[in-house]
Amino acid sequence: MTTAGEGKAPPPRVILWGGTGQAKVVRPIIERCGGRVVAVFDDTPGLAAPFPDVPLHLGWKAFQDWIRQEEVARLGFCIAIGNPHGRIRIALSDKLKASGLRPVSVIHPSASIEDNASIGEGCQIHAGAIVGAEARIGRQVIINTKASVDHECELEDGVEIGPGATLCGLVQAKINAWVCAGATVLPRRVIHADAIVGAGAVVRKDVAAGTMVVGVPAKPMATRKGT
Ligand SMILES: CC(C)(COP(=O)(O)OP(=O)(O)OC[C@H]1O[C@@H](n2cnc3c(N)ncnc32)[C@H](O)[C@@H]1OP(=O)(O)O)[C@@H](O)C(=O)NCCC(=O)NCCS
Repeated sequence: MTTAGEGKAPPPRVILWGGTGQAKVVRPIIERCGGRVVAVFDDTPGLAAPFPDVPLHLGWKAFQDWIRQEEVARLGFCIAIGNPHGRIRIALSDKLKASGLRPVSVIHPSASIEDNASIGEGCQIHAGAIVGAEARIGRQVIINTKASVDHECELEDGVEIGPGATLCGLVQAKINAWVCAGATVLPRRVIHADAIVGAGAVVRKDVAAGTMVVGVPAKPMATRKGT
């Protein structure tokens, strides 16, 4: 099991940004690695706290007030927000790093990652996921439970690969692309920026930026407004 504050020992105290389901997934991994989740932040008014024993704070102002009491060098962060909000993960990561916190990569012990694959900062790689030889994974990427990212795939920043999805070799997923649960992307195809591949789709052709494709074979359904 790995959680790392990039290039250094894991920070002992970790905050989560995002207080819904993804927070529940990442917390046990962080804590089994010796980190402790000390606060959760979210922007959603009225959101119920995800954990009875960890305080939930709402908004950036609340974060700024909270951080004044803290020793920033001991703090890491994990952004527990799924897609289509990969661009928000990237922007929040920049803000939190500028405040002195370190991004934590959350990698489940049952994930299999080839030694020559590269993993960017703040990634989440969940139970049973596979990252193949020479894959290049950008920052703030989420690879969900039992997803497979095969040899020489390139995933840009903010990409999410859903549970059980399969990216064959040499696939490229551009910034904030989202491949949903159980989809399959054939070798060398390119999923362009902000595109969505719906659950169960089989992608035979490149997917244009901002489009959503569904079905077998995958066909465009709508154009995304962007995030
Ligand atoms: C692709 C997706 C994001 C679209 O969501 P949406 O924009 O809310 O789409 P809607 O549910 O409004 O459906 C719109 C239409 O597309 C169809 N559709 C939606 N997803 C589809 C899919 N995966 N395959 C085939 N058709 C689909 C719906 O049946 C509906 O058709 P209709 O208008 O004829 O009834 C969503 O359906 C999906 O696949 N989600 C999976 C999310 C996931 O993997 N989460 C894992 C997180 S851990």
